[in-house]
Amino acid sequence: MAETITITDDRTGKSVTVPIVGGVFSSAALRDLDPALRMYDPAFLSTAACASSITYLDGDAGILRYRGYPIEQLAEKSTFLEVAYLLLNGDLPTTEQLNQWTFDVTHHTMIHENMRKRFVDGFHYDAHPMGMFISAVAALGTFYEDSKDIFSKESLDKQILRLVAKVPTIAAMTYRFSKGLPFVLPNNALPYAENFLNMMYRIGDDFSVDPVLARAMDMLFILHADHEQNCGTTAMRVVSSANTDPFSSTAAAAAALYGPLHGGANEAVVHMLQDIGSLDNVPAFIESVKRGEGRLMGFGHRVYKNFDPRARIIKDTAYEVFKVTGKNPLLDIALKLEETALKDEYFVSRKLYPNVDFYSGLIYQALGFPVEMFTVLFAIPRTVGWLAHMSELLNDKDQKISRPRQWYTGADERNYIPITKR
Ligand code: CMC
Repeated sequence: MAETITITDDRTGKSVTVPIVGGVFSSAALRDLDPALRMYDPAFLSTAACASSITYLDGDAGILRYRGYPIEQLAEKSTFLEVAYLLLNGDLPTTEQLNQWTFDVTHHTMIHENMRKRFVDGFHYDAHPMGMFISAVAALGTFYEDSKDIFSKESLDKQILRLVAKVPTIAAMTYRFSKGLPFVLPNNALPYAENFLNMMYRIGDDFSVDPVLARAMDMLFILHADHEQNCGTTAMRVVSSANTDPFSSTAAAAAALYGPLHGGANEAVVHMLQDIGSLDNVPAFIESVKRGEGRLMGFGHRVYKNFDPRARIIKDTAYEVFKVTGKNPLLDIALKLEETALKDEYFVSRKLYPNVDFYSGLIYQALGFPVEMFTVLFAIPRTVGWLAHMSELLNDKDQKISRPRQWYTGADERNYIPITKR
């Protein structure tokens, strides 16, 4: 079978035949047919905007791999910092490389005092942590003169290190501010996830993190570290294609993640479960979703048309966490919703399954995070994915500044009418 596609322009009878490689053909073929021809593809449903070797995702088969490694193996056997190294560098580190990377990240966790005293203190007392996170990440870049030096590998690596190391500190700072609690400095003796939980929750001297909960946090970070060309990552690529610095680009990606259809969905899931309130209300809620009165949050995915593999792992982890923290009372409602939806023709025919956000919020709540922090918890690990994509983009000779074309559907030329005559 020929691995080619032939496109004929019936207006002119002209044809082009181009190779299909890995299920993809180059749209340059269309330009060969007619340079004015455009493909209309809102929300990029059929468009590969880049070639990428970071994450492989097969939505129909429910497969997710980072640099070739199945997410299930990484979640079980690896650590977040090792996975971060893998995503950013392409291969798993040696012991020496991992020790150096861990040391470097650990020793870049502090943020400038002005960030806390002047910048964060300026927010309104009830500012949303995600709004604070986005602006703090952008502001942080102004502290580093070399942050714009993105074509020096040494400088870019430095900015990546700074961002990966400092996002947990910023995240914890937004929480402490919202609670009116004093800021806890990073502790270099603690691993990444534990240090984050320590900065979040320490009050006084006798604080320690249960190893099961620290491991669950680290594992949730692994699961959220990358997910190929989602909305936030696309924002990252589009903004960094203008050669914007990594801090501002990361802030832009985080802004995309903030939306309730993207990283804000885990927050929306908990609100939804709280609104449903009891098991008895589940059938009526499902019916209201089917009537189009709202969505079943935490269900459905643009790419997964089968179970989201991350959702399976998170569901298992939820039970581990609840052994330590006690069961989240919303769990039963979530389980009933899942069971009802997976038997219902509406959800089955549309291939709507639980996604990563369906159970993660319940774990976050059990770990003591307020719902407003959930998207921030997603943004911490996803910063690694965003930066891996930025590095890949900057080294990709095929890439230019992102600039899609449009299909103009507005008025034809018309003459200006003075306001008195309108
Ligand atoms: N509840 C009810 N109906 C749904 C849902 C849902 N959660 N998701 C999709 N549908 C329906 C939708 O109404 C449409 O039906 P119809 O064909 O009759 O018009 C059909 O399924 C296809 O939906 P779509 O909106 O065209 O699908 P999409 O690929 O554009 O949207 C999605 C993907 C994730 C935005 C969507 O499934 C959704 O809104 N889910 C709820 C929000 C959510 O959980 N988001 C987290 C996504 S995973 C983490 C992340 O990406 O950050």
